[in-house]
Amino acid sequence: MREWVLVTKTEEIPLGQTRSFCVREKEICISHVKGTFYAFINQCSHMDFPLVDGNLEDSVIECAHHGAKFDITTGAVVCMPAITPIEIYPLKVQENEIFIQL
Ligand code: FES
Repeated sequence: MREWVLVTKTEEIPLGQTRSFCVREKEICISHVKGTFYAFINQCSHMDFPLVDGNLEDSVIECAHHGAKFDITTGAVVCMPAITPIEIYPLKVQENEIFIQL
């Protein structure tokens, strides 16, 4: 059964930045884009390298390893070499706390 899990506080993720967290044995990234937060798996679908080091431009993160790009609002591939979408997670903010649904 999926449930909401507290991950961090909003002030821990500055605007335009991505941070990674280990949540229930999953490596999760949370990015802060224009006042909205998005959660996705910290694993590129190309060769499984972490996405947390990638460059974030608006809602697109570019993998630092071979340049694949993903839309973190949908998980969709925006640029190869990746061809498979990444997993994304529902996220909600209550007060200043960030929860994701796992
Ligand atoms: S591991 Fe991300 S593009 Fe290759």
